[in-house]
Amino acid sequence: MNPVDYLRISLTDRCNFRCQYCMPVGEKIEYQPHPELLSNDEVLTLVRDVFAPVGFKHFRLTGGEPLIRSNIVDLVAAISSLPSTQDLSLTTNGWLLADLAADLYAAGLRRINISLDSLNSATFAKITGRSSQETWNRVWRGIQVAHQVGFDPLKLNVVVIPGVNDGEVLELAALSIDRGWHIRFIEFMPIGNDALFLERGWIDSEMIRGQIADRWGLEAAQVRGNGPADVFQIPGAKGTLGFISQMSECFCDRCNRVRLSADGWLRPCLLNEAGQLDLKTVLRQGVSAAVLQEQVRDLLMLKADINYKERESGSTTSTYGRTMSQIGG
Ligand code: GTP
Ligand code: 5AD
Ligand code: SF4
Repeated sequence: MNPVDYLRISLTDRCNFRCQYCMPVGEKIEYQPHPELLSNDEVLTLVRDVFAPVGFKHFRLTGGEPLIRSNIVDLVAAISSLPSTQDLSLTTNGWLLADLAADLYAAGLRRINISLDSLNSATFAKITGRSSQETWNRVWRGIQVAHQVGFDPLKLNVVVIPGVNDGEVLELAALSIDRGWHIRFIEFMPIGNDALFLERGWIDSEMIRGQIADRWGLEAAQVRGNGPADVFQIPGAKGTLGFISQMSECFCDRCNRVRLSADGWLRPCLLNEAGQLDLKTVLRQGVSAAVLQEQVRDLLMLKADINYKERESGSTTSTYGRTMSQIGG
């Protein structure tokens, strides 16, 4: 089994977007009350005193939307300055990025993944559930600022939805040619919006790869990261193309991550609620770091079995109670 040394930390279950593929349309989402969320100090304590000693070296801040969290820059500075942190990254929808990119970079963040599901502002507004077509301009500006500030690698995430943005695959892929950006095509999963999944279905990475290869050719490539993407490149392009194929391919056997939810649950597998550990409660009870380390180690011992459980039961296309924004994408 792969060493598990990558922790994805959700900083909030809230989001200022309502992406179609992530949240059910019109349904009210129950958010955790603020006192239930881990504070910056608690997140830092867990990273420094529990996860780092257990061997975690790679950390990603996620949400909901992590940039709506107050004092995000301070938290980034604190985690990135720990000697045990080899890699700190962040996944964002880009809405607040133009304002925050320079401060985040100065605080030590070096790589960032941004959702950009369309190049068409009307489609983008529809996907993100925002009323204004200006949303696209603002996110695009955030991406430009992040690029100018020096974020590298800079990755753009595209969840491909049939009949919504699948007609833009070539245009989106072309962004990797001149700019050195890394575009990733993600298979739509039945998490968050079951109705849309049932209505639209999903598109296999293989098909998208084929479309791009027919147009430009594709060769194997590499980019810094810890995720499940298979990476290729248009010959001569400055950036790469990643394919995240959680529907068509099982990458559980190379899974290297666990997730900490904003309300302090350590979750061994995205697709399975088994084996979760309520770290917040034990931390608040004053249980020692050594005991928490032991509990995390125990959870890691069980992870391999938990990883495969849903798939072996044939229920990979079953739906889940929480959206990605609640689990921590
Ligand atoms: P890098 O370190 O840059 O490779 O990041 P990453 O790909 O791990 O991070 P990102 O937050 O950009 O994740 C991209 C998407 O990959 C997620 O939004 C999910 O759709 C998918 N994904 C990430 N981790 C998992 C996982 O453990 N299981 C499954 N099924 N999908 C995942
Ligand atoms: N399927 C695939 N990816 C999803 N994300 C959210 N919901 C889904 C889904 N149903 C991912 C997107 C976004 C990140 C925050 O979560 O990649 O970039
Ligand atoms: Fe969109 Fe991410 Fe917010 Fe979900 S958490 S609505 S994917 S921006």
